[in-house]
Amino acid sequence: MLEQFAVTLRHTAGNPKSGDAAYTVLSEQDFSGACAEITAWEGYEGTPLVSLPGLAEKIGVGRIDYKHEGPRFGLGSFKALGGSYAALRVLQRELSRRLGKDVSLEEIRKGAHKDACAGITLVSATDGNHGRSLAWGCQRFGAPCRIYIHAEVSEGRAVAMRDLGAEVIRIAGDYDDSVLLAKKEAEENGWFVVSDTSWEGYTEPPRDVMAGYSVMTREVCETLEQAPTHVFLQGGVGGLAASVAAALRQFYTVQAPRVVIVEPELAACLFDSARNGKATNFAIQEETIMAGLSCGEPSEMAWEILTEEATDFLTIPDSIVAPAVRLLANAETGDPAVEAGESAVAGLAALIAACQSAGIKETLGLDENSRVLLIGSEGVTDPAIYAAIMAGKDNV
Ligand SMILES: Cc1ncc(COP(=O)(O)O)c(C=O)c1O
Repeated sequence: MLEQFAVTLRHTAGNPKSGDAAYTVLSEQDFSGACAEITAWEGYEGTPLVSLPGLAEKIGVGRIDYKHEGPRFGLGSFKALGGSYAALRVLQRELSRRLGKDVSLEEIRKGAHKDACAGITLVSATDGNHGRSLAWGCQRFGAPCRIYIHAEVSEGRAVAMRDLGAEVIRIAGDYDDSVLLAKKEAEENGWFVVSDTSWEGYTEPPRDVMAGYSVMTREVCETLEQAPTHVFLQGGVGGLAASVAAALRQFYTVQAPRVVIVEPELAACLFDSARNGKATNFAIQEETIMAGLSCGEPSEMAWEILTEEATDFLTIPDSIVAPAVRLLANAETGDPAVEAGESAVAGLAALIAACQSAGIKETLGLDENSRVLLIGSEGVTDPAIYAAIMAGKDNV
């Protein structure tokens, strides 16, 4: 059943430092403010933490807990927590500036400034899930939304954003080109960029995005009886990983788990950053099947946290992604069936592959006492791709 996972993984050790980025780049107030607001939204419900004892036994670890973000706000991924919250915070700052007084999140949420919000355009580049979250937030709060997507983003993902009222602009280049165009057009037109990645001088929305993700981590911590020993975190720009790592550090302090970052071989900017000891860009030559992880430029703020918190960096080949989606869906291990997207299973695929390789398993300190946390970051966000994978296709 697990033969397909016997592949070569690349591993590089992180160089964790005893800094305090997990408290300063994202503060306890950032997290608690986001949690208080988002859990007050209509339709809020925690997502399931699924235990996978059958798989844990098969690969020789103590337990595996898989946080399944598919049902999140009906939007299909954890990203629902980030872009929408950051949109609300941009509106709050801009309305407060325009009106010359403090505007609360609650007032905007309750529609007190609907007319003013209609004049504040929010834009972003996306590979799908962040844009969907932003579009949803804009729809809720009454702001116009423009989303820039690159050539390889599936039409299914574009339609999902249009259905939420966003204007979707498809460009010829890759993800990083779409980020540049969104920035340029925003500057020219007085629009507001709500990005999930940060760069020099641009930190407020990405901080809010990462703060929003902490709702997910808080739910995990409140559900688990014991701290995990390991967490496998998939990386795109690093926002998810940095948010989860910081929130786990704040919650568990010295008991926080060992942080293992997982990226596609085809888009390994965090892996290269770890190797070089500084944030490093990766030139993407070919798109990975893990669309949400196809990022060549680390988020600066995320890297500040990960360089202190991440112990290990792995890359995985695309070939083990579809088998991991099917493994979860078909419940062959006797565990509950879970419907997951390609980017969701990166950590799971890496964990299984790591346990197939005696060397890497030992390097990561994985054994029958390990309690591994996985973040299943998306459900079926693209039904056509999911159907092809379930029909046995590995290359979609
Ligand atoms: C489903 C999914 N998982 C993981 C990620 C990675 O998140 P980040 O880019 O913050 O590292 C993304 C990013 O879009 C995603 O859509």
